[in-house]
Amino acid sequence: MTVGFVGAGNMARAMSLGWGDPILCTDAGSGRAAALAAEVGGSAVATNAELAAGSDLIVLAHKPALLGRVADEVTAGLTSRTSRTRAIVSVLAGATLADLQSAYPHVPVLRIEPNTLVQLRRGVLLMATPRPETDRALVAEIVELFERLGTVVTVREEQFSAASSVSGVGPAYWALLVEAQMDAAVRHGLTPEVAGRLITATMAGTAELLRQDDFDTLAARRAVTSPGGVTARGLAALERAGIRSAFNDAMDATVDD
Ligand SMILES: NC(=O)c1ccc[n+]([C@@H]2O[C@H](COP(=O)([O-])OP(=O)(O)OC[C@H]3O[C@@H](n4cnc5c(N)ncnc54)[C@H](OP(=O)(O)O)[C@@H]3O)[C@@H](O)[C@H]2O)c1
Repeated sequence: MTVGFVGAGNMARAMSLGWGDPILCTDAGSGRAAALAAEVGGSAVATNAELAAGSDLIVLAHKPALLGRVADEVTAGLTSRTSRTRAIVSVLAGATLADLQSAYPHVPVLRIEPNTLVQLRRGVLLMATPRPETDRALVAEIVELFERLGTVVTVREEQFSAASSVSGVGPAYWALLVEAQMDAAVRHGLTPEVAGRLITATMAGTAELLRQDDFDTLAARRAVTSPGGVTARGLAALERAGIRSAFNDAMDATVDD
């Protein structure tokens, strides 16, 4: 599938680096499309109509506010006799399937929200449950393509905001937690490098353990917590500091319901 990105900013770059295949792309005049094509292979094309005419799959990676204007430009290419576009995937934050389908009434449209880890092929990609009329074989083909960038999790559209408040913001939250633990470790004599290695390796192993054990967090904690021992004292200090209410507050601050 030739993928055409409308927009050549941060998200288009992260996704195309993750795929590692030649792409088509456009920008609004900054020159980022040419730079991206030079970096990942493929070409920057002059207009969104030209992009639409040459892409099997179009990925909307411009700012959400431009949906209508870009749709007019893309549609000029979709209606050309040579167009081979089979579907449009939007990564635009906040643009619903209804918004997208009304901007692109004649092409199947999917809504996917990747996080920035797609660049490492370790992303989390939320996909809104496709509309029932969307061809299932086409959806399966697109999901397979996006699974090359990480884990694709399908959620109902009304759950999108809560899901995004977990995975979209996640890299920043985990970076903050690692930073806090690193600072504490440095205060007790470890170098940032040693602390960073210890913390990230422990995170990765714990993530794998939780995945294997159906996310049984209690079992994972009990396995390393002896009654009255060091881990119990550390966990109690974290609870006293309000770690659970901090996550609840962060969720309340980000979920749009
Ligand atoms: N960044 C994230 O972590 C993230 C995560 C999930 C979803 N998203 C979504 O991804 C989308 C892009 O975000 P971003 O962070 O990549 O933004 P960005 O870095 O600002 O990139 C936006 C790109 O869109 C281009 N553009 C604007 N108008 C255009 C037009 N008419 N035709 C073609 N290209 C046009 C811009 O061109 P110029 O370079 O010429 O300005 C730029 O290359 C947003 O809708 C956002 O909601 C982002």
